[in-house]
Amino acid sequence: MRRNGVVLFAFFASIGMVWAQEQATPKDRLIVETLVRLKRFDVSGNEKWKGAVERYVRSQRGQDGYFELVEQFSVKAELPELLRLVETDPSSAQSAKSVQLIFRLGEEKELSRILSSSPKKKANAIITLIGFVKTPAAQKLLDRHKALLAPATTTGKAAPALLSTPEDIEALATRTGNPKRGKVVFQKFCFACHKAGDLGIDFGPGLSEIGDKLPKSELLLAIVKPNAGISFDYEGWTIETKQGSFLAGIVNESAEELTVRMAGGVSQKVKQTDIAKRTKMTASLMPEGLHLAMSESELVDLVEFLSVLKKK
Ligand code: HEC
Repeated sequence: MRRNGVVLFAFFASIGMVWAQEQATPKDRLIVETLVRLKRFDVSGNEKWKGAVERYVRSQRGQDGYFELVEQFSVKAELPELLRLVETDPSSAQSAKSVQLIFRLGEEKELSRILSSSPKKKANAIITLIGFVKTPAAQKLLDRHKALLAPATTTGKAAPALLSTPEDIEALATRTGNPKRGKVVFQKFCFACHKAGDLGIDFGPGLSEIGDKLPKSELLLAIVKPNAGISFDYEGWTIETKQGSFLAGIVNESAEELTVRMAGGVSQKVKQTDIAKRTKMTASLMPEGLHLAMSESELVDLVEFLSVLKKK
């Protein structure tokens, strides 16, 4: 039996394509479920487990738990799929998760490559996602592609940097926008961190009833000056581990471990004993300047969309 396994392995390894496309078996699933239960996520030393994990995770593409599995087992074999998701539609929820995971896998040079070869509009959308990551590696990449960081070319008047005084904000708050168009703006700039009804990802505060909570002027303020008041439960932390990795997000803590939730909805567990350093961020995890990439009418539409999100 054992010998057959070895022969089979050698056979498939020798014709890589067939191996790569081999279907996950019920046994693969069992192995993965067991590993998850045992919290044995490092399978690098065991070819049998590694193969089972790779086949099973591949079979889960498009399914609910897919990203979590890639994350837990650091499945580098899924890198091409993550890159494909980002390239296909950078303003989708999957792309936000994929970008976080690509950094977690330490493969951000691949993002660099995509950025250089993508049309400007697509590159800008990817840059926005990288801006959510907030780690030194992400900052370095952003610095390198600074030329792309110019505000996206949108139709209409650019959102005014004028929005710096309370009077400007009050003036904009009296305007009425188009909530349908606002929804599209939300899907472009906000979905990676906020849930609004059945849209978006649960990372920052839920916005499904935000229209009951905040008037238009305060909605504008929350977008234009996210650092003005940071919601208590959503303060950001940066964590450096003894293994040298770096995480930024919202922290939940138990006696044994920290769970760091990141923009895009990916989370990562770190053992307390593996933590080298933790620092509370002074700025909000919500990026400043998102409105600068919108036109004024897009901003008004977005605020309209948010203001009609109310308890049913
Ligand atoms: C990278 C993640 C991220 C993105 C992108 C983001 N936000 Fe936020 N947002 C947060 C976090 C985290 C908080 C809570 C911390 C704080 O108050 O600064 C927050 C807070 C808010 C609040 C205040 C909620 C409350 O209950 O008081 C509003 C409103 C808001 N965001 C709207 C938006 C809109 C609209 C967009 C898109 C233009 C957006 N956010 C994009 C992470 C994000």
